[in-house]
Amino acid sequence: MRRPQWLSQWRRMLHRRKEVVGINERNVELIYRHNDRRHFPIADDKLVAKQVLSELGVPVPRLLGVAHGLHEVNGLLERIEDEEHFVIKPAQSSGGQGLMVVGEQVERGVWLKAGGGDVTLAEIRQHVANIVFGAFSKDRPDRAYVEERIRAHPVHARLWHDGLSDLRIITLNQVPLMAMLRVPTAASGGVANLHQGGIGLAIDIESGRTIRASFRGRPIDRHPDSGAPLIGVQQPEWERVIDTARRASQVPLAYLGTDIVVDQSGRTLVLELNARPGLEIQNVNGRGLGTYVEEVLR
Ligand SMILES: Nc1ncnc2c1ncn2[C@@H]1O[C@H](COP(=O)(O)OP(=O)(O)OP(=O)(O)O)[C@@H](O)[C@H]1O
Ligand SMILES: [Mg+2]
Repeated sequence: MRRPQWLSQWRRMLHRRKEVVGINERNVELIYRHNDRRHFPIADDKLVAKQVLSELGVPVPRLLGVAHGLHEVNGLLERIEDEEHFVIKPAQSSGGQGLMVVGEQVERGVWLKAGGGDVTLAEIRQHVANIVFGAFSKDRPDRAYVEERIRAHPVHARLWHDGLSDLRIITLNQVPLMAMLRVPTAASGGVANLHQGGIGLAIDIESGRTIRASFRGRPIDRHPDSGAPLIGVQQPEWERVIDTARRASQVPLAYLGTDIVVDQSGRTLVLELNARPGLEIQNVNGRGLGTYVEEVLR
């Protein structure tokens, strides 16, 4: 007798569910079992990450200045008022919140912003004050910092010219398990975060080629703004990217998501580390981490 269609659909769904690590299992099994809470600040604070990575000899974007509190906001502004391009970040935010990608300077005290529009020094002062007050860190006081603005590698710039794509590599015990490229769009304000309107592309770890793309949870094969094809794109400097992820994973967080960018001249730099890399990457890849994890731990 033929098996009813609903039964095979149901079985497929159950199988998929088992494959995609559920949020509970992710937290309990992967994070808490492999990552000691004590070391979370390495990933939860981008300035700590910069320091730790630099000590390991892993390249990071150059730091231009930090405001540890309101009293340091003016000092930080003095430090950047002559800069053409820079990025302002909260030390403790995630999902692209509070990031401002600035440059070039069109007149004294006025800059263009990635994603469109301009920004004045007074607006930047307000933004930095908001960061320090904790507007992007669950109302806990934070530090604001400014770093060099990284220009995208031509392969990434061809996908979308305005902003910087980044590569998220998940490692467990220093073994790369899964990778995705995030690409900015016209709507994402120069950042590539999926929550801000970026596109997620799954990458085959072995070859460094993109194999799937999704935008707002739906599969796509072309960039919605530029029309550039998104599948089969060979990632620049792929071996170096993987090597950088391995080197970054020497930090004492066995389960780690490392965000890497490839700049105009092919340098690979680490933007930040994530101790609780989201389920996003599994959705983008259309598969669960579960089987990879079992292989590494076997
Ligand atoms: N120095 C920089 N120069 C240019 N663009 C940058 C720079 N730093 C970050 N960006 C842009 O901002 C995005 C987010 O950066 P970052 O990973 O530091 O923030 P986040 O809020 O922790 O994001 P998430 O938690 O989603 O990883 C990057 O994908 C990139 O597009
Ligand atoms: Mg990040």
